[in-house]
Amino acid sequence: MVEATALHPILATEIHVDIREPLIAATIAGIVSIMDHSPVGVFRHERPVSDGAHVAFSRRFGPVERMKIPAGSAARVPFPEIIDQSNLDANGEIFPDDDKRMLYKRANRLWHTDMSFHAVRATYSLLSAHVIPPDDAAPTEFADMRAAYDALPEVTKAQIEPLVAEHDYYYSRVIGGGPEPSIAERSLRPPAKHRLVHVHPGSQRKSLYLASHISRIAGLSDADSRSVIDKLMAFATQPEFVYSHVWRVGDVVMWDNLATMHRATPFDDQQFRRDMRRTTVREGDVALEAML
Ligand SMILES: [Fe+2]
Repeated sequence: MVEATALHPILATEIHVDIREPLIAATIAGIVSIMDHSPVGVFRHERPVSDGAHVAFSRRFGPVERMKIPAGSAARVPFPEIIDQSNLDANGEIFPDDDKRMLYKRANRLWHTDMSFHAVRATYSLLSAHVIPPDDAAPTEFADMRAAYDALPEVTKAQIEPLVAEHDYYYSRVIGGGPEPSIAERSLRPPAKHRLVHVHPGSQRKSLYLASHISRIAGLSDADSRSVIDKLMAFATQPEFVYSHVWRVGDVVMWDNLATMHRATPFDDQQFRRDMRRTTVREGDVALEAML
């Protein structure tokens, strides 16, 4: 039996498990069961969880994405499974305001689900708070895509049921304020197509699969694609579907990318350090590598 406390009526739960401990299979199954019901799980610790423990816990839920670290390059966090979501360079210094990496990271302030631009989708993301800005700045917001789907008018459900969306990493980077990628960069990250409506595997409930990465919908004009996506985005992120997580150092927040969207919120990223580290679990049983 895993102890848990609701943080939101439909969307978020504090799960009273110390992820640094060796956990038996029944505990992992209990966490999955809670997550299938309420897709954002919050694990609290009194200090930051080590990268090794973060990765080891993530692996209990499936194959974990690994970054290719180019030879000769220095990573601030030397674990290929850890995606550095901080505003810090390899030396721990804050990125300059116009640094391309900073501009692309700011695009995470658009609603999205992680890695939907890959053919093999992400299941869980686990974000660990090492350093946070002061005054409860920069909460992360989550929106429940199953509850949003359930609340759609039946006519809309029927209209969107057959639609397939194209998810393009660079589409969201550019509309989020980043520079146009080069042809070479674009070729490393081809778009992926996914159904706009899918059945969430763990709960068998229908869910929207939405993200700011969506560039277009197959078979629709650009204008019609944008109209459909913008309306669904606005509907699905209404306050009743949203939980806002105010971070504490030591928090690890796990969310189900197949049942939620999320977004970062602004803070003074030129004055304050924010050190957040993410692992991403994938569908399937083969660990894939991707250039991040
Ligand atoms: Fe994200």
